[in-house]
Amino acid sequence: MTLKFCCCFVVIMVLTVIALSVALSVRKEKLVTECPGPCYVTCPTDWIGFGSKCFHFSEHINNWASSQNFCMALEGHLALFDSPEELIFLKRYNGDSDYWIGLHRESPEHPWMWTNNTEYNNLDPIRGRGECAYLSDNRISSGRNYTLRKWICSKPKAILCKGHGF
Ligand SMILES: *[C@@H]1O[C@H](CO)[C@@H](O)[C@H](O)[C@H]1NC(C)=O
Ligand SMILES: *[C@@H]1O[C@H](CO)[C@@H](O)[C@H](O)[C@H]1NC(C)=O
Repeated sequence: MTLKFCCCFVVIMVLTVIALSVALSVRKEKLVTECPGPCYVTCPTDWIGFGSKCFHFSEHINNWASSQNFCMALEGHLALFDSPEELIFLKRYNGDSDYWIGLHRESPEHPWMWTNNTEYNNLDPIRGRGECAYLSDNRISSGRNYTLRKWICSKPKAILCKGHGF
């Protein structure tokens, strides 16, 4: 009788632990997709938000490939734009400097490609016969990959929860 009760107790304990851990793991999953408190759609310090993207304008100069590596180290890439509005925004901030952006091609006979290997839709024509594109004087121009210029990185805005990263 005592033994039976003991067994029963152990079974109940085990079941309770299993049920609890299942409940907790479900709760954990929920926390990943929604915030427990207020959420912020935001850009890191030194990045400027526009639409659904964040843009970083460099202070330093580098060649095209190293600029792209710099952006990737910050979980972005050389600037991509998807609409005339985004391009106008970039041109507006470009000022007097030339800035590498995320368009390149193998040769003047090849199509322009984004850094994600998708072909450029020619939203804005690119001047010159270089292999790497940069923003200059309100237009997109092209030059040699080894030229040192400033650069613009872009990445999607991040969703942050209050208490997680604040
Ligand atoms: C690559 O980037 C361009 C510019 O942001 C975008 O239009 C295109 O859809 C992207 N391609 C893929 C496969 O994500
Ligand atoms: C420029 O492109 C050439 C040919 O693709 C490549 O061999 C060279 O390493 C590149 N230079 C730089 C600085 O990225």
